[in-house]
Amino acid sequence: MSILSGKKILLGVTAGIAAYKTANLVRLFIKSGAEVKVIMTPAAKDFITPLTLSTLSKNQVHSSFTNEEDENAVWNNHVELGLWADLFVIAPATANTLAKMSSGVCDNLLMATYLSAKCPVYFAPAMDLDMYKHKSTKNSFAKLSEYGNIMIPATSGELASGLVGEGRMAEPEDIVEFIEKDILNKLPLKGKHVLITAGPTYEAIDPVRFIGNHSSGKMGFEIAKAAANAGAEVELITGPSKEMVSHSLINVTRVVSGDEMYNEAHKHFNSTDIAILSAAVADYKPKFVANQKIKKKDSSLTIELEKTKDILRSLGEIKSSQFLVGFALETNDELENAKGKLQSKNLDLIVLNSLNDKGAGFGVSTNKVTFITKAGEVLENGLKSKTEVAEDLIALITTKIHA
Ligand code: CTP
Repeated sequence: MSILSGKKILLGVTAGIAAYKTANLVRLFIKSGAEVKVIMTPAAKDFITPLTLSTLSKNQVHSSFTNEEDENAVWNNHVELGLWADLFVIAPATANTLAKMSSGVCDNLLMATYLSAKCPVYFAPAMDLDMYKHKSTKNSFAKLSEYGNIMIPATSGELASGLVGEGRMAEPEDIVEFIEKDILNKLPLKGKHVLITAGPTYEAIDPVRFIGNHSSGKMGFEIAKAAANAGAEVELITGPSKEMVSHSLINVTRVVSGDEMYNEAHKHFNSTDIAILSAAVADYKPKFVANQKIKKKDSSLTIELEKTKDILRSLGEIKSSQFLVGFALETNDELENAKGKLQSKNLDLIVLNSLNDKGAGFGVSTNKVTFITKAGEVLENGLKSKTEVAEDLIALITTKIHA
């Protein structure tokens, strides 16, 4: 899945011959799962028709402040367009538009939108080689870089003038790749390794029976997705769960028992930067596992249980620089119990779930949690979807590890 999937891309097309290539660029953005709206400068319409770009983008193309063909003309709100966009890509960007961008000249819809956009702006210059080399153009590049705009460099090759040199707009495939790489490199958890445990564990009684619990694993899977979307490489160790995930940055290992989860977690902990243990590991397991199915003979049956290994506690004992996060599911004296666990298990953060809160806990798609940090902060989170809780948790961890 492309990182551009679900992104809102505003494409600004200016009047260069390379504008004809934007048909393919729109197609590639759409193919990657993005939503696309196009703004053109009036002169760009000489190079490619708005109809082509509106058909491919499945959105109306704007080039002026009003809809001039319509007698009930409506105002094309540049502020709204700028706020709508997650990314603004100006391609091709002519020397004229670059000069206007660098000095703030606002004489068309594209420029007004550029000046009001709050999102990252990428621009792909396209012009003749002498224009590209001109000191004035270089000054525009420097100014735009100072503004935080990102240049997708032109390439060398045959130009519309017949001359050969630097100034060709990057090919649409390369523009898409450039933007994808740039976004990935800037993700807040890029390069971080995150270990997550999820789901229940099943502790065997005999070949057909086990002790388990109602954990669905959903919270852990959502945390894995949120961490991967933040650029982390995720090792997700899950007990028996129906949840599925397909993400290039998530490696899923499926285990059954607490002992297997313990071994897997320890295998990866050394190379982990952040460990989030959300699994509902069984606290006890049968001391002896019968080789054969236990037959019903007597009127009662006693199974002797022994404690399972506490994975979280064991990682807290050996942790060095890892940021360690645990969960606490409590029914009484919630804050006190959670703070106690944070301390005794040597955690950096604990996520408190109170079973007294409606909509929190096992088997539901919502959760109401309180985050408690090592420094003693108590951050209450309202009732939210598990997806949002996971995103909030990852955002909080990100601020903590970068603090
Ligand atoms: N945990 C773990 N391994 C275990 C038991 C728990 O890694 N064998 C982790 C859970 O994933 C969770 C945290 O420990 O992050 C809290 O688990 P919980 O069962 O609520 O707390 P306990 O410390 O086991 O205490 P109690 O059951 O008495 O509340």
